[in-house]
Amino acid sequence: MNIAFIGTGYVGLVSGVMFAALGHNVICIDNNIDKINNLHQGKLPIYEPELDKYFAKAITSNQLSFSSNYESIADVDAIFIAVGTPSKDNGDADLSYIYSSIDNLKKYIHPNTILIIKSTVPVGTCKFIEEMLKQENISCPVVSNPEFLREGKAVYDFLNPDRIVIGTNSNYAKDLLKEIYNSFISTHIPLVFTDTNTSELIKYASNTFLAMKIAFINEMSEICETVDSNINILSYAVGLDHRIGTEFLQAGLGFGGSCFPKDIKALHSLTRSKGISAKILDAVIDSNQERCGIILTKILNILGNNMEGLQIAFLGLAFKAGTDDIRHSKAIELVNLLQKKGAIIKAYDPICMDNIKENNKNIQCYDSSYDACIDADSIIIATECDEFQKLDFDKIKKLIKSPYIIDLKNILDADSLINKGYKYYCIGRNFTR
Ligand code: UGA
Repeated sequence: MNIAFIGTGYVGLVSGVMFAALGHNVICIDNNIDKINNLHQGKLPIYEPELDKYFAKAITSNQLSFSSNYESIADVDAIFIAVGTPSKDNGDADLSYIYSSIDNLKKYIHPNTILIIKSTVPVGTCKFIEEMLKQENISCPVVSNPEFLREGKAVYDFLNPDRIVIGTNSNYAKDLLKEIYNSFISTHIPLVFTDTNTSELIKYASNTFLAMKIAFINEMSEICETVDSNINILSYAVGLDHRIGTEFLQAGLGFGGSCFPKDIKALHSLTRSKGISAKILDAVIDSNQERCGIILTKILNILGNNMEGLQIAFLGLAFKAGTDDIRHSKAIELVNLLQKKGAIIKAYDPICMDNIKENNKNIQCYDSSYDACIDADSIIIATECDEFQKLDFDKIKKLIKSPYIIDLKNILDADSLINKGYKYYCIGRNFTR
């Protein structure tokens, strides 16, 4: 099958590479000429575990190519659109990248082409695009096929989807999509066929539900602290109820990234425009917005209100572990709050330092956790990186000024650190009083 992907971000590039590795012929298009040039030279613009391996395989088998020229998609059977849909100031999804790519590609649509929207778009967008094309005498099924990949686990998620959702009323499009996803059909992954509106809403509902679990567990962690209970054991035991599930119940700084905050806002905006009362959405948004402030108060209670000149080794800056993506990172939000209080932040993250150096010039970057810890008055851990769990805390004890560790992801072994003489603080559990 000949497939085009428009947009080479996390979703477009990973899906493009992986469909090529599965045997389709894929062309990835992006307006960013530098990105395309780098891809031609074998340089991936993002970090994703194992992506390089599949990228090399697809290039070697001549199944993957790149271009910034839309002409190259003239002969494809299916065009996937996977461009960004960021939030506008009012919370609505900004669809300008979708519409400009459609403007660029429409003259290459032939009678058998189908258009597939992978980007997360508001309900009704596929119908609207199909109608818009019809007005220009272009007849083309516009299919909704939302993506459920997580950054940092995108290749794994691509190969092991929980379900594949396809929204279309066209039998021709259905058959083509079945062919594209053929290798998954034989592994009995559920394929959910529905209309485009339901498919679009499934994506928002999924992300919002997961965000709601996180907001809920963060509130439970506050309750745990107050009534002297243990959030880790609570999360585990509650999650063992198969109706609830153990995932997305890790308390922390709140949810960030380029998806959850934007998608919840977009769904919220839809409810407002339709006059629907959405109290749960309101609460999830409010709870997540408050989260860094609550954590800041906790830190001030531990380290004292006067943070002026206090040196903090801040470990973990990406919006979560395992990615170089710093968009809407709660860790960076907290860094900014601490800096406003006068703290000196000495930051380190195993993957995203280049992005930090380019975009957050106010943050002092260090080459390792150990370097960041030299003379620090406290260590703050903000993401759940494996590397932080493996640190040599005997070595760090000799580097730091004061033995304070504030573990905002509850990833360290409290007993062992307390035995080493640290004052260990985490969330939803009380160890040091
Ligand atoms: C999310 C969804 O999980 C994907 O299914 C979806 O495809 C993607 O959005 C998207 O819409 O494109 P992603 O943004 O990569 O994926 O990240 P997640 O792993 O979902 O984490 C989101 C945020 O929640 C992060 O800030 C993370 O630290 C936080 N989180 C996650 C928690 O605080 N606790 C948890 O237990 C899980």
